[in-house]
Amino acid sequence: MSGPGNSRPVAIAGTGSYLPERVLTNADLEKMVDTSDEWITSRTGIKERRIAADDEFSSHLATNAGRKALEQAGLTADDLELIIVATITPDTLTPATACYVQQNLGATKAVAFDISAACSGFLYAMKIAKRLISDGAFENALIVGAEKLSAFVNWEDRSTCVLFGDGAGAAILKRSEPGKGEILATDIGTDGRQTRLLNIPGGGSACPITIANADQRLASLSMIGNEVFKHAVTRMRDSANAVIARAGLNPEDIKLVVPHQANLRIIDAIADRLAVPNDRVFVNLHKYGNTSAAACPIALDEAHRTGRIEKGDHIVLVAFGAGLTWAAAAVRW
Ligand code: ACO
Repeated sequence: MSGPGNSRPVAIAGTGSYLPERVLTNADLEKMVDTSDEWITSRTGIKERRIAADDEFSSHLATNAGRKALEQAGLTADDLELIIVATITPDTLTPATACYVQQNLGATKAVAFDISAACSGFLYAMKIAKRLISDGAFENALIVGAEKLSAFVNWEDRSTCVLFGDGAGAAILKRSEPGKGEILATDIGTDGRQTRLLNIPGGGSACPITIANADQRLASLSMIGNEVFKHAVTRMRDSANAVIARAGLNPEDIKLVVPHQANLRIIDAIADRLAVPNDRVFVNLHKYGNTSAAACPIALDEAHRTGRIEKGDHIVLVAFGAGLTWAAAAVRW
């Protein structure tokens, strides 16, 4: 794209997150499948996760997170021009979850649509919204990662059910001034050859759920975890390095890395490879597990609200997920 608007800086003006009330601990899971707190903790770092209520959908989680981000940005729903929801657990296949969020917020002027890029979805949304704002199409955007993964987990499969949780995280993007807060660089990538490693095989046009196959739990997450692990480390390392370089920064300039929260061993491996000390890497997966598209923005909001990110700091967000997809962003706060 070209044009005078192309160089207009775009900043994160507010963040928000929402976690459902119900806590499911490793001890609870020990009663459900053949697993142990020791296995889950040593292999993943996860201690507990949140589970949405039966009548609480991805759009509700997204709306609650979005309200908090709007409030922090000093905007009202009426000001909103764009809503992008990143999710792999939409309320319905159509319309988009973002349409329900628009309705819940009463953001009647906002264009609203979803994107599906699994755990990288929030950062895909950030890249799209940044470009649409910087080229002048919109003044601001609400971007949200929201997941009710508990609705797509096979609770009898110990290899996946211990990993995931529900939640939502959001950010408001808007025009900034040169020298102030700015999303400095973004990177997104996809390797469609690896779709088999991580997917929800049923419930789409390739495999509709029918009475004949209903007992096979095909609309559940399926993952070859150890293969995903290897891709996750290299792709996130390369994507983070790419945005650090494009932003004209060095690893030592980065105050905080906010990675996708899938597995503590993956996070540690990335910190090593980026040469960033562990105390500059934000971790909250012990409380929430892997919330897919919601994980990065929930971590960002928590880091911001607990004072780990201050005005002028440089941070890097980085994620990886089904697709395979990966993404990163370098941000000056
Ligand atoms: N409790 C006890 N034992 C278990 C459990 C469990 N919950 N789950 C699996 N095991 C067993 C397996 O059956 C296997 O037993 P075996 O050796 O007798 O066959 C053994 O533990 C080892 O299994 P692995 O899958 O090799 O274990 P690994 O060390 O790879 O850890 C994990 C699994 C945690 C899933 C890891 O591979 C991982 O984190 N992968 C990456 C996940 C990720 O990043 N996903 C991307 C984002 S998700 C998204 O996009 C929606």
